[in-house]
Amino acid sequence: MDTFVRLSSDLMGYCQDDKVLDFGCGVGHFAENVANNVGSVVCADMSDYYVSVCNLKFASKSNVIVRQVKPDMSDISTLGSGFTKIICFSVVHYFADLDHVTAFVRGMQQISVSGSKMIIGDIGHKGRTIQDILKSLAFVLREGMVVDVIGLLCKIWLADARYRKVKQRGHSYLQIPDGFWESLGVELGIKVTTLPTQFTVNANYKNVLMVF
Ligand SMILES: C[S@@+](CC[C@H](N)C(=O)[O-])C[C@H]1O[C@@H](n2cnc3c(N)ncnc32)[C@H](O)[C@@H]1O
Repeated sequence: MDTFVRLSSDLMGYCQDDKVLDFGCGVGHFAENVANNVGSVVCADMSDYYVSVCNLKFASKSNVIVRQVKPDMSDISTLGSGFTKIICFSVVHYFADLDHVTAFVRGMQQISVSGSKMIIGDIGHKGRTIQDILKSLAFVLREGMVVDVIGLLCKIWLADARYRKVKQRGHSYLQIPDGFWESLGVELGIKVTTLPTQFTVNANYKNVLMVF
């Protein structure tokens, strides 16, 4: 998350006027990184566990609000409105189906101001080519993440059989077809750009910028 925030900060231009939404916030790493540089952050997640972790973590942080949402996008409007920046990082491939992705983007459009930016980042994918593996290695070296990645791989592959079972090397993910984001942009009247920047070690994952 530190690396993502650093590599995306020019593009997003976080400032004190921003009302930011982190959708699918997990343990709140994004808010930990940016809360001091923006007006406010709403951390939203469907998980009881992550919501309770964030509630504890941000209890004394007056500009970070934690909200639980339903997984089917039916209560997006409860998150408030007037968002100027939205992040949804490493989340949409866990949605149940493409209709939820469409409902999510439509919902974000409704609760954000005109001209606001959203990054849907680290969108999971099952295919990984040799070129992707080489790009991943180059990224790890370039960003000085060798120790972190070795630690994470050991944790996942040696100690967390349940995670491996759920992940199935990306085969359990919702697969988002080529051209999906662009078509959705046309349907909803949103400017959609696939970003050339690699934000994480997952070189085969996609990052999309939407301007509402
Ligand atoms: C891999 S974690 C990413 C967490 C965080 N964005 C990060 O990068 O550190 C995926 C998160 O998405 C959340 N999530 C998955 N599907 C969701 C949905 N339909 N609505 C809200 N949150 C969802 C999960 O509960 C989990 O916290």
